[in-house]
Amino acid sequence: MKIFEEIESEVQSYARSFPRVFNRAQGEFLYDEDGTEYIDFLAGAGTLNYGHNNPAFKEKLLEYIHADGITHGLDLHTRAKGTFLEAFNEKILKPRSMEYVMQFTGPTGTNAVEAALKLARSVTGRENVISFTNGFHGVSLGSLATTGNSHHRGAAGVTLSGSSRMPYDGYLGEDIDTTAYLDKVLSDSSSGVDLPAAVIVETVQGEGGINAASVEWLRNLESVCRKHNLLLIVDDIQAGCGRTGTFFSFEEAGITPDIITLSKSLGGYGLPFAVVLIRPELDQWKPGEHNGTFRGNNFAFVTATAAIDEYWSDDNFARSVRAKGDYVAKRLNQIVEKYGEGNFTSCGRGMFRGINCVNGDIAGKITSAAFKKGLIIETSGADDQVVKFLCPLVISEASLKRGIDIVEQAIAEVCAGEDSIPETVDYFDEDYQIEAGDESEREVMQRAS
Ligand SMILES: Cc1ncc(COP(=O)(O)O)c(C=O)c1O
Repeated sequence: MKIFEEIESEVQSYARSFPRVFNRAQGEFLYDEDGTEYIDFLAGAGTLNYGHNNPAFKEKLLEYIHADGITHGLDLHTRAKGTFLEAFNEKILKPRSMEYVMQFTGPTGTNAVEAALKLARSVTGRENVISFTNGFHGVSLGSLATTGNSHHRGAAGVTLSGSSRMPYDGYLGEDIDTTAYLDKVLSDSSSGVDLPAAVIVETVQGEGGINAASVEWLRNLESVCRKHNLLLIVDDIQAGCGRTGTFFSFEEAGITPDIITLSKSLGGYGLPFAVVLIRPELDQWKPGEHNGTFRGNNFAFVTATAAIDEYWSDDNFARSVRAKGDYVAKRLNQIVEKYGEGNFTSCGRGMFRGINCVNGDIAGKITSAAFKKGLIIETSGADDQVVKFLCPLVISEASLKRGIDIVEQAIAEVCAGEDSIPETVDYFDEDYQIEAGDESEREVMQRAS
């Protein structure tokens, strides 16, 4: 179709990697106009944790539309919003002993980040915000100032101010705890780092290359925040909603953020939706002080409620995600050992994983070869050097295995320097088996898929 070349802006990016016209999707599959099936390991960059067009949510949404439920209501109280707030409070917050109020912002992640930064500055009366190397928080100007990537920063056209960058966990090597450096500069009135309002952090950096912070590092970071009286903002937009094996990505670390941003998979159905969770005493907004025409998406309230009811009423779904995450980790470690020759490393946590190929050229060749075999998978990292595994969490065991088989095949070909892709490949002829000891792992996965 020429129309995309004719009038769609040059700013397109994913469309360049996967140059097909897609017109149908279900679960972990995307279909192009010719009916070719692709397994989707991109999953809307973390928006489709529950798969494409999840039937349970679709039914609820169609019912709501047929009943002329409110579509747009600014920030009016609606039944759909009330039901979502109740479900979130009863099934997400209370079982975790978390007490937060919820702010509905404009519908994309960066809107939530902007609100979080603005509130932190307003409450503390300070401007500076600590952000981390390779962090990604969105591309509107406030969020962009806390984002590391020079490609995105370079497009700003103005000075990006109000943030000091600190080294993320592992940035200076495995044995260096970078929170000690943060503590040091904050303790030194001559360090040149102004006392910040807050720290903003991803527990696993998605766009920055699937860098997972250790639980110790996160705990130390929280201690530094408390010591210096800074607010801790966890940006859980990509790592949250189950991706790491728990609803919030920081649960294992046992930390208590002051502010949390959520978006992407929160709406459940791929509908735009973003929120900020705020510790009640910090909710010092004046009415309408921060607004937006599309704050709160009623369709997304309906599908987000359905997602909570369906997947978060008990621990089964989270357990299945952890089991799948263990499987992915094992497979990636095997691949790295078999083909990496010391150059590849596997990274990530839960179902948020990657293979770091050191260089973007190799990673790009791998994802291109995988696409030719029917797998949609992208790269991330400063040089696009990480092959990023971000499939829907509801993916079947068979598709998960098949997708990883395809990546393995692609890696084998790229490492062997093969230019042409074999016509027929039996992806199911697999030597990896879930081991006998992993019986319960298999059961949990099957139950969830
Ligand atoms: C951690 C994180 N924060 C914020 C954003 C920005 O979200 P959006 O692209 O919806 O504005 C993203 C997007 O990838 C993200 O991964």
